[in-house]
Amino acid sequence: MNPRTIYIAYGSNCELETQILLSGDLGYIKAEEKLKKLQVDIGEVERILKALIKFLENKPLNPFYLYWEKTMHERMERILFTAETIQRRVQDIGKAISSDYQATGAAKDREGRPLIAVCILQGAVMFMADLMRAIEIPVEYDFMSISSYGNSTSPGAVRLLQDLSHPITGRDVLVVEDIIDTGFTANYIKRGLLARNPASFRICTLLDKPFRREEAIKMDYVGFFLEEDLFVVGYGMDYAGIYRNFPHIALLKPEYR
Ligand code: IMP
Ligand code: MG
Repeated sequence: MNPRTIYIAYGSNCELETQILLSGDLGYIKAEEKLKKLQVDIGEVERILKALIKFLENKPLNPFYLYWEKTMHERMERILFTAETIQRRVQDIGKAISSDYQATGAAKDREGRPLIAVCILQGAVMFMADLMRAIEIPVEYDFMSISSYGNSTSPGAVRLLQDLSHPITGRDVLVVEDIIDTGFTANYIKRGLLARNPASFRICTLLDKPFRREEAIKMDYVGFFLEEDLFVVGYGMDYAGIYRNFPHIALLKPEYR
């Protein structure tokens, strides 16, 4: 067998079998397929590579440590909205909500109960916390958790994970969302909450991706519009559950996506 260069790829999903790549005339292919063709003992190669990885792990500059030692900042390609920009926008939305609900008399319902804001867990938590303090009229708030496992075969499959703790019948309801993408989640929430006969229903979202819409939905307050097809993280929004605590809204570098 001719000597060949073996590249060890390292990244977010370090599965040895899928991450070991061989260089070849046809570019990079999975080691297992290639080695099968060459009739090489895969087990033996795996043992050697595992030993090599173990060796590298104990070095100060090994790739695994480099990956995990990166701060969130170092993993971002670009910051789209800084914490300061977000704060300014949240203050404006808070003022608009305060004056709108005062003007319509909805700041207090017939029984003297204030507006009820509904935070959609988990993405809207940061926005909710800041927005609530930017609203100048009294507000009650509640939480609701939704999971969406939409994919190409069942787009927009949405499920209720945790319902509100209080009834909303006859109340003025303001839903607070992080981002409206296809519109499936927001429509699911809207249908569910309208069925409980609130006095009024509005939606406030921090981000809107209008060109991604598959189901129309009317939004009453929007923080920022995203005009490009970008997947964002930070300020409550996640990639595979992480980066929610990054204070700015940003794009991940491709190697972390
Ligand atoms: P929709 O049902 O497609 O409108 O999806 C809305 C939900 O998908 C949002 O509440 C987010 O949780 C999630 N989502 C959509 N786009 C992004 C993104 O760019 N970053 C993080 N989460 C996103
Ligand atoms: Mg969400």
